[in-house]
Amino acid sequence: MGDHGGPAAPVQLRQPIHRDPPVHARPNGRARPDQPDVLVFGAGLVGGWVGAHLAGAGLAVTLVGRADRLAPVASSGYTLSDLDGNKVHVDASTLSFASQLPHHCAPDLTLLCVKSGATRQAAAALAQVLPPGSLVLSLQNGLANVDQARLTAPQLRWRAGMVSYNVAELAPGRLHRGTGGVLMAQADPALEPWVSHFNGAGVPLALHPDITTVLWAKLLINLNNPVNALSGLPLRAELLDRGYRRCFAAMMDEALGVLDAAAILPARLIAVPMHHLPMLLRLPTPLFRVVAARLLRIDPLARSSMASDLARGRPTEIDALCGEVVRLAATLGRDAPLNRRLVELMSQAKPRQRSSAALLRELGL
Ligand SMILES: NC(=O)c1ccc[n+]([C@@H]2O[C@H](COP(=O)([O-])OP(=O)(O)OC[C@H]3O[C@@H](n4cnc5c(N)ncnc54)[C@H](OP(=O)(O)O)[C@@H]3O)[C@@H](O)[C@H]2O)c1
Repeated sequence: MGDHGGPAAPVQLRQPIHRDPPVHARPNGRARPDQPDVLVFGAGLVGGWVGAHLAGAGLAVTLVGRADRLAPVASSGYTLSDLDGNKVHVDASTLSFASQLPHHCAPDLTLLCVKSGATRQAAAALAQVLPPGSLVLSLQNGLANVDQARLTAPQLRWRAGMVSYNVAELAPGRLHRGTGGVLMAQADPALEPWVSHFNGAGVPLALHPDITTVLWAKLLINLNNPVNALSGLPLRAELLDRGYRRCFAAMMDEALGVLDAAAILPARLIAVPMHHLPMLLRLPTPLFRVVAARLLRIDPLARSSMASDLARGRPTEIDALCGEVVRLAATLGRDAPLNRRLVELMSQAKPRQRSSAALLRELGL
């Protein structure tokens, strides 16, 4: 991410989020007729990060989210930082905020940024307000979001995307990208014009010919999320514990076996081919530190969003993660006991944190 040197000229139509009935972001037409309109549905970490960057670059962005989450940013804007030391402030006046979807809107692009469990509901809500044929890009983890959304709202043009980095909230409105990476989406003529907008806004977007293989690769990497959540440690500290890495490696091996059986070759998202990653993870820590130096380029305080959800007592995306491996295995007449066990552990009322030795024992490793 480059430093944008401050936000673009403010748009005029920022609205207070507490207005009732729900605000219409741009009742009088576009504030910047030369710039496309973007609606972000689910203004949390990803929605806030991407939406604020696009707004900072001058796009007309409306963030739809929970009122309590929007209140601080509607008054103070976003401060966006990253592990490369970049920091930029995006003024609240450059964004529009709404706690519910506007009754009628016709954005050029909608970004779906809710957690997987909220996809169906979000798709139904979007179907009420967006004109048929509207383009909606999912920036969610998991394989099934776009299929679910399409089933719910077939009249909208759903496209799958993926966020390959970690975004954390250091304080309300203070978002931090703690790892490297880019946004990716299914190669599609409708998305091609957006690449330059995203790139210019400091949230680079790469189009991929087979996004399903990208989503599976991301899912494999995210198998560390429940391990991280159960460790109670920041990501880097957890990955520097060989015991936790062995748990992650075993789950990954199991998932790779299922993918092999299903003839799905995950995309290569990192320098190491996915099939080699478990071996790398099992290396003794001093060697791992050296060989995996790039993988370990993570802010010392970054945690998985699953860890944050667990800490806040919110539902996690475990079903869209390990549950997806278990379901694919079942379609092949196989079992995926480690991933199944992680679903069970994370689905307990109050999953407790475990040492790596305890987690290894629990997984029978
Ligand atoms: N955070 C990351 O580092 C990261 C990285 C890569 C990918 N992802 C993926 O990106 C997706 C979004 O994750 P996130 O971390 O940005 O989640 P998040 O911070 O929880 O943001 C989603 C927001 O949308 C809100 N929301 C849900 N339904 C809504 C509705 N109908 N109307 C208004 N607001 C609604 C949620 O509120 P409630 O919580 O009250 O429902 C929440 O505030 C997930 O699939 C995640 O796995 C996240």
